[in-house]
Amino acid sequence: MEREFYTLAWIEEEADPRTGRKGFLSLLDQTLLPESEQYLKVMDVPSLISAIQRLSVRGAPALGCAGALGLAAAACRYEAGEYREFMRWLETRGREVAAARPTAVNLGWAVNRCMRSLRTMIEKGEENVVSLKNALVEEALAIQQEDKELCEKIGEHGKRLFEEKRTRVLTHCNAGALATGGQGTALAPVYMAHRQGLEPRVLADETRPLLQGARLTAWELLRAGIEVTVICDNMAARAMVEDMVDFVLVGADRIAANGDTANKIGTYGLAVLAAYHRLPFYVAAPYSTVDLELAAGGQIPIEERDPGEIRSGFGRLIAPEECPVYNPAFDVTPAELITGIITERGILRPPYSRSLRD
Ligand code: MRU
Repeated sequence: MEREFYTLAWIEEEADPRTGRKGFLSLLDQTLLPESEQYLKVMDVPSLISAIQRLSVRGAPALGCAGALGLAAAACRYEAGEYREFMRWLETRGREVAAARPTAVNLGWAVNRCMRSLRTMIEKGEENVVSLKNALVEEALAIQQEDKELCEKIGEHGKRLFEEKRTRVLTHCNAGALATGGQGTALAPVYMAHRQGLEPRVLADETRPLLQGARLTAWELLRAGIEVTVICDNMAARAMVEDMVDFVLVGADRIAANGDTANKIGTYGLAVLAAYHRLPFYVAAPYSTVDLELAAGGQIPIEERDPGEIRSGFGRLIAPEECPVYNPAFDVTPAELITGIITERGILRPPYSRSLRD
């Protein structure tokens, strides 16, 4: 029997009478999967930012949970004299954490939600730093718990797409338990269908350059006993023409007000292929991934990553050292290519500018 894994967890420690509540964030180091399962202990902001930027923790909703819990862990250790000083420190650290990865809106959303709840307490007269730290931990835990519930609801709504036995779904990157505080967004309906004996089958794009599909999606689905087959990203068209796919289902890092959706690089190409082959293309995401402040996908900031991620692979150089490399981590799928957006409230249909706002 394999040991249960968790993506992230708050580990409570003995409180210090001087500084109050104490704990740390424990993260499954996803850079080591599938070879080894090791957990990282995060107690300060530099190690939180480094874990986020190295992708030890990744996936939009998990980034939100980790940002909030990691900030809370660091705050527990901060020895502040009075509340104004504590809040100044927290606002600065919060901005640094929120900026660690720019595309997934959940990270900034979660940090802002924590800051807002503390500011409200202060407006109501709270000046005790220990109480503020305690409230920060509670808010971060509430974000994690809520994310788990959002995943369940997405699973319930999305399960409708799996009513036929042995439905075949193509997914990209990892939008499962490793990407959220719960069972996932795009993979939540798959887990739900599996639990009901519907035997869903998953085709997982390996997802170059960092292989979240091959390393993470395949790993977590196999552990759950779900049928999964890995393909290279450039095999999706072949799989579609060979009638191996019923529909495409992916997660999201940020959804603009008109429904344009940023997700892992390669998602847009998959949507174009799905449209050409007349296959439905679904996105699954909670409300925390929707950014109504951005009118359209062109305004979504796209993270560009280290060229070394592309030049090296398989433990060696795979492109000439001096060769220029373009490495955007995400792309934007236009709303017109999206058949439906599975949210905790149900499956939204176009026009998304109306259904998302409603
Ligand atoms: O760079 P990553 O691994 O953080 O990218 C993750 C994705 O693109 C996921 O598909 C997205 O965050 C949805 S996660 C439920």
